[in-house]
Amino acid sequence: MQPDQSAVYPTINVFNSLGEETTVHWHGLHVSGEDDGGPWSSFGSNETYNPTFTVKDKASTYWYHPHLHHLTQKQVTLGLAGLIIVKDGEEAAINLPRTYGVDDIPLIMQTKAFTGNSINYVIGPMDPVNPINNDAVFMMNGVINAQQNVPRQVVRFRLLNGAHQRVFNVGLSNNATFYQIGSDGGLLAAPVPLTRVRLAPGERAEILVNFSTYSEGTELFLKSFASELPVGFWGATNPGNHSGNGPSNYNPNPLNGTNFDIIKLTVSASTVNPVLTIPSTGANVSPLSELNANNVRIKFLTPGTNGPSIGPNSDINPYFNFNIINDYVQLGDIEIWEIHSKSNAYHPFHIHDIQFYILSRNGVLPPLNERGRKDVVAVAPNEIVRFIAKFDDFGEGVPYMYHCHILPHEDKGMMGQFIVKKNVYVNKNFNGTENGSINNPYNTFYEAINNSPGGATINFISNGDHNEVPPTIVIDKQAVIKLVNGQVIIK
Ligand code: C2O
Ligand code: CU
Ligand code: CU
Repeated sequence: MQPDQSAVYPTINVFNSLGEETTVHWHGLHVSGEDDGGPWSSFGSNETYNPTFTVKDKASTYWYHPHLHHLTQKQVTLGLAGLIIVKDGEEAAINLPRTYGVDDIPLIMQTKAFTGNSINYVIGPMDPVNPINNDAVFMMNGVINAQQNVPRQVVRFRLLNGAHQRVFNVGLSNNATFYQIGSDGGLLAAPVPLTRVRLAPGERAEILVNFSTYSEGTELFLKSFASELPVGFWGATNPGNHSGNGPSNYNPNPLNGTNFDIIKLTVSASTVNPVLTIPSTGANVSPLSELNANNVRIKFLTPGTNGPSIGPNSDINPYFNFNIINDYVQLGDIEIWEIHSKSNAYHPFHIHDIQFYILSRNGVLPPLNERGRKDVVAVAPNEIVRFIAKFDDFGEGVPYMYHCHILPHEDKGMMGQFIVKKNVYVNKNFNGTENGSINNPYNTFYEAINNSPGGATINFISNGDHNEVPPTIVIDKQAVIKLVNGQVIIK
């Protein structure tokens, strides 16, 4: 079965009332550079941003968040992290829970530091007294000590790690088995039984938990089993050395190295027509073959005195620079990217534009729950991760980003940009030593913001702290888009 290609053209009006510039990036969606909402596409306070794009992606859980260079950590930590749920015919054919908020529950995980009642997002990622190390408060969907009733049946949770740095190691408090059905960009080939799913910032997982054998009133928790995180993962007992200097303020944080609750679940009566069994199959997953790769590209994750960097293993332009295009990719090419960690801390590598398939971790096939479509991969200390992707559909235009999804690293410049060329010479012997001296032809580009009538409106609201969770956008590729007075319905 082919991915559902039915065209949907949502127009989304994002009104900025933050009091400062922002961008909105559609994390995981395969859209043009113009509509990608990366750092080039900023819009000012009291302006509206109206991207329109076809949803070409498979059913999965995507998300949106600001991507303004230097302010991503601040704006995301203040709460701007919303979900995009894409549905399609392939997903609809599987007997899955899909009643939003009842048996299909979005869970956006973030941690924050508070000073009094205000979220302390202080910028200055490598500051030795950096309060990002004090993100002692866990919030689920913007709530402390979150609780949810779950019906006595199979329940689907859509997990997003929307935190700036912390890794969550999610499991049930009774260690019961659950089933991961989806990775970042689609359903897996079959549900994968697990007792833990580890999610780095930016990663998503859809999981199923079968509560049908629990009695009503049973209370249990989803927890993050941080005590089990490996050395080098932020949130573990030992997070490794992130910047050439060990993190200060790390150990006093009560979330570090200890297991903590992420949401309390109370089993309640089942609904009508409950899903009672875990499906035996998933989506058609057809990874690209290495044999078809046109090019291999190598990236190094390197510690540095000014913060970790991404890119060539040299000191030439180690940090993000708007004026430098780091990579040109030939439109239509299949590429293997090799991410080499030279760091003793983990870094979640994320790339815009495409979904990829992980080929190997240190030469070994990834675990079953990482064999689906991905757009973030957590690279462990000194690990080599290889993935494969096809760069199709969108060429030229505004550059796409790749970066570490630890937001203070990204803000500090652990990021590069690439353009998919319609026709470019590709050096097959590329060995990661490019020095980024190519000038960026798009540095005069600044997205003009036009107010357009119609479309749905997402209000980015800020009166100081904005803790409320932004709305979930549900795009059902099977449904005819419902228009009410010219407005796309966004639930
Ligand atoms: Cu989730 Cu470049 O972003
Ligand atoms: Cu992204
Ligand atoms: Cu990093």
